[in-house]
Parts: sequence; structure tokens; C-alpha cells
Amino acid sequence: VSDRAARSPAPRPARAALGLTGALTMPLVEAGADLVGHGGLVRAIVVSADGQRVLTGGFDSTARLWDLALQRPLATLTGNAGPVHAVAFLPDGQRVVVAGDDGSLALWAPATSDPPRRWRAHAVRATAVGVGGADPLIASAGWDGTVAVWHAIDGSESIRVDHGAAVTAVAVAADGRRLASGDREGRIRVWALAGGDAPAAWHGHALGVTALAWTPDGDLLSAGIDGAVRIWDVDGRRERRTLEGHDGPILALAAAADGRHAVTGGRDGQIILWSVPGTEPHRWLARHPSPVWAVAVSPDGRFLLSAGADAVVRVRWLATGEPVGETSPETAEPKPWLTSPHPGARLFRACAGCHTLTPDALRRAGPHFAGLFGRRAGAVDGYDYSPALMGAAVVWDRHTLGELMRKGPEEFVPGSRMPLQRLDNPEDIEALVDYLQILTTATAAGPRPEWRPESR
Ligand code: HEC
Repeated sequence: VSDRAARSPAPRPARAALGLTGALTMPLVEAGADLVGHGGLVRAIVVSADGQRVLTGGFDSTARLWDLALQRPLATLTGNAGPVHAVAFLPDGQRVVVAGDDGSLALWAPATSDPPRRWRAHAVRATAVGVGGADPLIASAGWDGTVAVWHAIDGSESIRVDHGAAVTAVAVAADGRRLASGDREGRIRVWALAGGDAPAAWHGHALGVTALAWTPDGDLLSAGIDGAVRIWDVDGRRERRTLEGHDGPILALAAAADGRHAVTGGRDGQIILWSVPGTEPHRWLARHPSPVWAVAVSPDGRFLLSAGADAVVRVRWLATGEPVGETSPETAEPKPWLTSPHPGARLFRACAGCHTLTPDALRRAGPHFAGLFGRRAGAVDGYDYSPALMGAAVVWDRHTLGELMRKGPEEFVPGSRMPLQRLDNPEDIEALVDYLQILTTATAAGPRPEWRPESR
């Protein structure tokens, strides 16, 4: 069965690995249970309609396709211009849509080498996507306060609805005809995917709506920052019930295909299984060490997938919450900056979330730092830099790194995609650059487990 090597972060060639149309064998119990490969917070998980593949998206700017039965990466979709906030399969199961931080949608066919069709759907961050209808149609939500519906064939826009506040959630009903959307002010709207009637709108949550899901019977579930899950009778425009159990905001919500269960994940790290008819009490399924940002239920209702800040997608039995097979350690990478007494180590923690020290570490949002000193800007092979950084006539050394930290990326290399990082205190800059030099010089020759930068 799949071994450790099969679970290594290196993506397999997509074409060779895809097209697995055979019967679904289930060696899940023997294999490890986790999908390991993302290098940062995982924000979105969906399972394909046939239950065979999983699509995830996260802050390392990638979307990843996995074989659920074998826990094997099938493809890594890079070049999404910033963190990925939402992903979805199209009904053909072959194409996927990825929502980006810059407001773009990208339509990929991972089994081919075709570049994605990409278009600007929102002026700023695209936060959520849903797919439905025979055409098929893609619904997207954005921080620009709008929801838009697109023809998947050519990316043309068919509807745009103004919410009046940043839109944080969309969900297409199982019949593919209705769409629900929710915004940061707690408003929910339900409208026809094909357009026409004015949307039904109501105030669903005291604070922002974080996630929406439809039951197969056409009830709508909503989750919010206020920590509540609500079940709505959409046609009767009334609330059926409120479910409470999380301590703080709910970040993720998924409805099971049986119409009887739903799962939520919260900032409190809890995963809760709810009885939607309310005939059984809800159950605490699991507790993550960190906030849970994404949950999904496999279409056969057997598996629960969840992920969050620890970057690992965990697979559990929905019935018990027990992990399926052995669980993975969070990461094997050494993190000397957590214990080093060097004054720059504390400052480096701000960088470590996005930059690794070795080329073979799990991918992060930024390029790796191996051999940084003396390296030309924009030189890591295979990393998808902004044109600005690629074209910058900069070689990284004590001086240029100091300038980068003093001025901030947006001033030092205008057009760079690195988010605001700036230090005011010259001593801090000196300490960080010094520590960077120690760390990246130590690792330039490859990872050495015994390496102790602080002993220098
Ligand atoms: C939230 C993610 C994030 C954080 C945090 C972050 N960076 Fe970056 N960094 C990036 C991205 C993305 C790029 C690539 C930018 C581009 O292509 O324009 C980058 C590029 C760089 C580069 C250029 C590397 C090269 O190959 O040319 C340096 C140097 C750098 N960052 C230093 C730092 C330091 C030092 C810190 C901590 C103080 C830091 N970064 C924190 C995301 C981040």
C-alpha cells in the first residue's frame, strides 16, 4: 500500500497519476491518514462527487489535488497569485476552479498540461466559490461586496449582485438552481442562479457570516463569527433552529449528503457533528491544536476531512471522529529560531511562516532561503515570482536585505508580492540580517539535522 514515499510533498506528474477511474479500493486503514504537502494554513477542502479525489487550497498559494484512498498527491496547481481562499470541482469532475487573493478565478484541468483560464472576478480578494446548474455556472464572492455568476465555458459573467458589504460565503443548492450568499454584516441572500427574481434577504447572524451549506432537502445552514449555526427554512423564510456548541467564531461548515448531519470547525479548534433534524444531541468529534479553517464530508458520509493552521489535512471516520490510520507529525523541519538566544531569532519567526530554509521543505507562500546571501533576487527555480521581483537588479546581501527591511518590500521593489514587512529599529534590522546570514549559510549545503546556528 502507499508508503511514506508516496506521501512525500513532491507532486507527482499530474497526467500519469490521473485518470484513475477503476473501482475505489480502500486501503485507507493500512495507509497513513493525512494529506501532507501544504506549507501553510489550509483554507479550503472539497471532495469530488465520486469520492475519489480531494481538492484543497491554502496560504502557500497552491491548490492541491489528492487521491483520497491512497492519500497521494496527484497535482499541485501553482501560480494562483497569492493565498487560495476557495476551491471547487466542476460537475465533469475534471476541471476545478480556484479563487485567489487578488480577486481572480482560475479554471484548471489538472489532468492536462493546459494553462488555467484565468479572469478577474472581483476587485479584491475572492473569498468563496460554488458550482451548479447544467450550463455549468460558477458563483464567486468577493471582498468587493459583490457575488457574481459565471459561465464555466468561457468565463463570461451572467449576474452580479451587490451585497453592500464584503461577501464571505456562497453555496449553490443541490438542485443547482438556487444560490445563497452571506456577508460580513451577517446578511444572507438567496436567489436564483439563472437570475430573475430579486433575492430574498435577511439578517442571519449578529456578526459576519463565515460559511453556508445546503442540505439535500433544500434547507440552508449558516455559520457565523457569533459562534452559532442556524438552519433556515428558505421558502418559509424562517429559522428552524439554532445550534450552539463552539466557543467563539465558526470558520468552516459542511453538510453531509444524508441530509441528517453537518460538521463545523471553529477558531476554538473543535470539530462538532450536528444532527440537522435535531433529533440527536450534537457530538464533539475532535479537537485540533489550532483553529479549524476547513472541513469536508465525503459523499458516502464515511470520512471527515479537516485542516487549519497546522497545514495538514486530517482524515477521520465521521461516525467516531477517530483518525483513519496513523496520523502524521505536524512537521519534521527543525525550527532553531524558536529556541535560539540570538536576538534575530525572535524577529525571524515573522518570516518563518512564509519562507523555509531548504529547497526540499514543504512549500510556503514565499521562496526558500537556502543560499540567500549572494543570490540574485527572483532566482529560485520553479518559484512563481512577481514580474517586479524577477526583474529587480538586486543581489541579496547584508546591505540589500537591510534596505528591504528598512523600506519594506513595496518601496524597495515596487510591485513585489511580499506583504508588508518592515522594521524601524536599526538594531533589529542588524540582528535579523545577522541571524538570516547564520541560518541560510548553515543550510546552503543542505539540511543537517545536527546544525546549531546559535552555537556559532
Ligand atoms: C505572508 C508571507 C510572507 C512573510 C511573512 C514574509 N515574506 Fe518574504 N516573500 C514573500 C513572498 C510572496 C515573496 C515573493 C515576492 C514576489 O515574488 O514579489 C517574498 C520574497 C522575499 C525575498 C526575496 C527572495 C528572493 O528569492 O528574491 C526576501 C529576501 C524576503 N522575502 C525576506 C523576508 C523576510 C526577512 C521576512 C521576515 C521579516 C519575510 N520575507 C516575511 C512572502 C512573505
